[in-house]
Amino acid sequence: MPNFFDRVIEAVRGPASFDDSQISNEWFKAHFFYATDLIHDWMGKELNLSQAKLLNFGCGDGISDLALMLRYGAKRIHGIDVRQEYKKLPTIAKEQLKLQRLPSGLTFETIKPSQPLAGKHQVDGIMSWSTFEHVQRDQVLPIAKDLLNCLRPGGLFFLQIEPLYYSAWGAHLRRYIDVPWVHLLISEDELWQRIQAYEGELDMGEVDYGFDDFGVDGYKRFVFKEYQHLNRLTADELIAIMREAGFEVVREQKNHMQDEPPAQLLTQYPREILTNNEILLLLRKPAA
Ligand SMILES: C[S@@+](CC[C@H](N)C(=O)[O-])C[C@H]1O[C@@H](n2cnc3c(N)ncnc32)[C@H](O)[C@@H]1O
Repeated sequence: MPNFFDRVIEAVRGPASFDDSQISNEWFKAHFFYATDLIHDWMGKELNLSQAKLLNFGCGDGISDLALMLRYGAKRIHGIDVRQEYKKLPTIAKEQLKLQRLPSGLTFETIKPSQPLAGKHQVDGIMSWSTFEHVQRDQVLPIAKDLLNCLRPGGLFFLQIEPLYYSAWGAHLRRYIDVPWVHLLISEDELWQRIQAYEGELDMGEVDYGFDDFGVDGYKRFVFKEYQHLNRLTADELIAIMREAGFEVVREQKNHMQDEPPAQLLTQYPREILTNNEILLLLRKPAA
């Protein structure tokens, strides 16, 4: 993370230059462009990113935070996560962007799950990308309340989940089992057997930088455990929890896939829930 010398160098020389014309990693590309454009599209109209203090809840490797700073002029972002993938960011950014040092306003913090943040952090905006489906279900409301308390009155929270659990790829297992809704059709044991048996290539757009640490079998175990811990929230449940926490909904968008769910599942679940693969929310802390 930026150290004292990086700060001094940035103060003297200005921001480090970068080159995004030769990005080779698909995961990096998807976060540096697609996710960041969307976050900017939702937050940038309401907040002046160059002035705002931002917090990213579940920042992962921090690629989209870096992109928000390099591409959209955000100046202060604090990434929070229970893992430490963000420690790889200086190396990744050097490889993919030829960036010699991270912006000094980009900071990161490791927390324990559900560790309170309010009191320590007071920000203008919060974002959370593909994270809230991983939070233990009974912790979603307390965490939402805590994040509300991290915001100044009128502050904004952009929250995205994709894929939602009951949608075609909601298990987050597509890199191993390319069968829509498979997690709702076969048992957990069968899912694990199919993952273990998989020997093909992985779609690199879905493979995060953790793969190198885990290796082939370790990554299978990691991805399957992530699946087992998904909280299975639907979009409406999430919205209800956020309202209960005290947020106002400024904007919401539910995206649906066109694929036809299996007839068997349509007798068990509403079509709306089976086809709704993404929820995008812009929430506001009411002005005092
Ligand atoms: C699918 S990853 C997404 C990471 C990042 N937002 C991205 O788009 O690459 C989910 C992230 O949420 C983090 N996470 C899960 N539960 C969390 C919690 N209770 N508090 C903070 N982070 C959490 C995980 O460690 C992981 O980095």
